[in-house]
Amino acid sequence: MRIIQMKSLSGKKIVLAVTGSIAAYKTPQLVRLLVKAGADVKVLMTAAAAGFVTPLSLSTVSKNAVLADVSDGATWNNHVELGLWADAMIVAPCSANSLAKLANGICDNLVCAVYLSARCPVFIAPAMDEDMWLHPATKWNMIKVRQYGNHIIPVGNGELASGLTGEGRMAEPEAITAHVAAFFTENKQMTGLRALVTAGPTFERIDPVRFIGNFSTGKMGIAVAEALAARGAQVTLILGPTSERPQSNAVKTILVESAADLYRECAAVFPIADIAVMAAAVADYRPQLKADEKIKKDRADMQLALVKTTDTLAALGKIKRAGQTLIGFALETNNELDNAADKLERKNADMIVLNSLRDAGAGFGYDTNKITLVLKNGGPVALPLQSKKDAAEAIVDQILKLRYVEEAV
Ligand code: CTP
Repeated sequence: MRIIQMKSLSGKKIVLAVTGSIAAYKTPQLVRLLVKAGADVKVLMTAAAAGFVTPLSLSTVSKNAVLADVSDGATWNNHVELGLWADAMIVAPCSANSLAKLANGICDNLVCAVYLSARCPVFIAPAMDEDMWLHPATKWNMIKVRQYGNHIIPVGNGELASGLTGEGRMAEPEAITAHVAAFFTENKQMTGLRALVTAGPTFERIDPVRFIGNFSTGKMGIAVAEALAARGAQVTLILGPTSERPQSNAVKTILVESAADLYRECAAVFPIADIAVMAAAVADYRPQLKADEKIKKDRADMQLALVKTTDTLAALGKIKRAGQTLIGFALETNNELDNAADKLERKNADMIVLNSLRDAGAGFGYDTNKITLVLKNGGPVALPLQSKKDAAEAIVDQILKLRYVEEAV
């Protein structure tokens, strides 16, 4: 369960940038919620936004003047000062046009100038019609703004101004306030990040009743998914056949059976993920042919021809882009550190979580694990035998360090 402390907004200085979308009519309510939570809110708006909500409403609820232009007659509105003043900037609603400007560094109004000058975290709450939202240009722009490190407040699904129903609605003011509050709540450092996690075994069918599988229960991967969600990340878990399930309903779970299913789901989610943790014990081989009918034992012996499955971790490693953190697991029985270091390199991962089957209490089925974090630079970090929950926390701590160091470079 996510516990968000609204008091985390107390005393925070927030710049709210309102752009031209019908959802702008909800912004006085957003300002009221932020102010009620103790924030000091300064509102900026684009010329198009003024058609949907009046500056007077927004200045009344924020108790601050609303700024629309780089200069208001005789006064120059110092965008650099505003950018430095803010602890957070929220662009809500962010129209398709403003999104394109933020994604491409266009600076033709005060909102864009403050955005480019801001040194604080920026939260973007897109709002547009579904067809605009689904257009490849918008998708690219979303990837870009995410890549710059902005926090995205997911759009909702429902009635749109066009009369159509679908994706593209701005998140409700309560959800936007909760999102920003979560960011400032201790231990919610992953708010706004999207994570993809795989867990469990895969089953490769031989015939309708038999399969090749392994003893993985998925407990470790599920614990990682829950630890990421507890820090505020938006988590999609791709889970192989196991009876284990995440306790937290903040983890979106997609059930799969085979290595091919797992690859397909991961390939769909990875392009928009910031973090991917491949903890599933994926079959390396599958039967070349799957019999449609049950195979009878009418032969004295039989051979099963196997072919390689797609290595999802390696495939994602090939398309990984700047800003994405990719973590693999390795279960080894000998030459553990060398094998893990080799896997790190070969699969273009940022970290390999190494388990050794030689360690008592580690591996399939146990509630404990003894892991070693194998890193590109530094490490390895050998951790003691601990609960899978604590091991998951340690993995997430290390992911944060990796991302922090990368950003700082
Ligand atoms: N993995 C994957 N897809 C596969 C096989 C493995 O995504 N088809 C991922 C696992 O989830 C894990 C990592 O790759 O994160 C290590 O898997 P492993 O099978 O141990 O690695 P291999 O490179 O196949 O090496 P080995 O020769 O030890 O089997």
